[in-house]
Amino acid sequence: MELGADAIWLSPIYPSPNADFGYDVADYNGVDPVYGTLDDFDALVGATHEMGLRLLLDLVPCHTSIEHPWFRERPDLYFLADRPLNNWVAAFGGPAWSRDEVSGRWYLHSFFPEQPDLNWRNPEVPARMGDVIRGWLDRGADGFRLDAIDRLMKDPELRDDPPATVAPLLPLHPEHGVLEHTRSRNAPDIGEAVASLREAAGDAFLVGEVYLPAAGLAQYLPSLDAAFAFELLHAGFEPARMRAAIEAMHATGKAAWVLSNHDFSRLPNRVGRANDRAAAMLLLTLPGPAFIFQGDEIGMADGPGHNPPLDRHGRDAFRHPMQWDPSPNGGFSEATPWLPSVDPAQRNVADQTADRGSLLWLYRDLIALRRTLGEGIAFRDSPPGTLVYERGEHIVAINLGDEDRPGPEHRGIELATSAGAAADPALLPAHSGWIGRLT
Ligand code: GLC
Repeated sequence: MELGADAIWLSPIYPSPNADFGYDVADYNGVDPVYGTLDDFDALVGATHEMGLRLLLDLVPCHTSIEHPWFRERPDLYFLADRPLNNWVAAFGGPAWSRDEVSGRWYLHSFFPEQPDLNWRNPEVPARMGDVIRGWLDRGADGFRLDAIDRLMKDPELRDDPPATVAPLLPLHPEHGVLEHTRSRNAPDIGEAVASLREAAGDAFLVGEVYLPAAGLAQYLPSLDAAFAFELLHAGFEPARMRAAIEAMHATGKAAWVLSNHDFSRLPNRVGRANDRAAAMLLLTLPGPAFIFQGDEIGMADGPGHNPPLDRHGRDAFRHPMQWDPSPNGGFSEATPWLPSVDPAQRNVADQTADRGSLLWLYRDLIALRRTLGEGIAFRDSPPGTLVYERGEHIVAINLGDEDRPGPEHRGIELATSAGAAADPALLPAHSGWIGRLT
């Protein structure tokens, strides 16, 4: 709450065997005992609302856990066949068809074999998912992050994916990237599946995880409040690519800005420690909702992960627990977390709260200031390594490069990434940024 956020997004809390850390759901209507009970959920909703925050859950509509009772009781809700029906490759590598040892039949999975895909062309699937949505909204949830929805509808005839002829626009697992996913996801009528989620959700907030560039989002957007801007997340911190990604996503009118999440290396590892403040300024001066991955606000980097790995797709290093205080477990929990703390003595919320010049304070100041920025975004051409854009009465100047650059004219700096960044009003020092007034 001190951060100034409006809402919390919880990654999946449902009972799960954790083959994919909750993204393999065994009961859509429950809470995994490792997190608590439905009563605990109700208490969390109550406390969240009392603080003026909203609570978003993570809905995983594309697949269940193989341990979900539906998989045995209602195989018609899935894709089952006597043999693999096509050449599709799973997102984490390996074939998208696995043999079920119990029935001897083959089933389709877009992700791990423990995550059989639901067949959204069976009308009972959207109907059941609608019940799930209504159930959580009745309990007080305010909306959902919709997981992997570009996988909801596939080619009706399940035809082969053709070989890829160009490099993927967003990074993919190398085995997955050998095919162009024209049939295994993003079917021409996928908008109908997303519309059924919207119908159940009413006016609750829906943000879609659609792993496509901005140009591919048209079918999804009518039913969503926002979609994550993955093109920006993967723009490599190269200003020209970032500007193009921001302009393309802003043009959709439904950008949810994001620079890091639980699936990718943490910000300091991708943008360089020197740029963590500039990255914060960029994320929080774009128009529309922005998502902060827990730990980014104190500058947490990738950790050692776990040995042996917990996540077979190699994401443990990005998922170490939040560090609230300098104690050995960072004040995260009284229990032993799955993954250890990384560096709570060096980096934690308590210490950074006490230090007015900390990264955490920059996040707080940016979140407060962003509410005063005007509509829209207008980029100006600017020196190499920099991004300069107007937000109504304000101008934002960010230098991601190693060299100091001249900054644009302004009528006073309102917020800078550090005291040094604003020392000379005509200068935009390397790895820094500021927000100035235009009037
Ligand atoms: C999404 C989630 C990721 C998960 C996958 C399968 O991409 O963000 O963590 O592994 O979907 O559900």
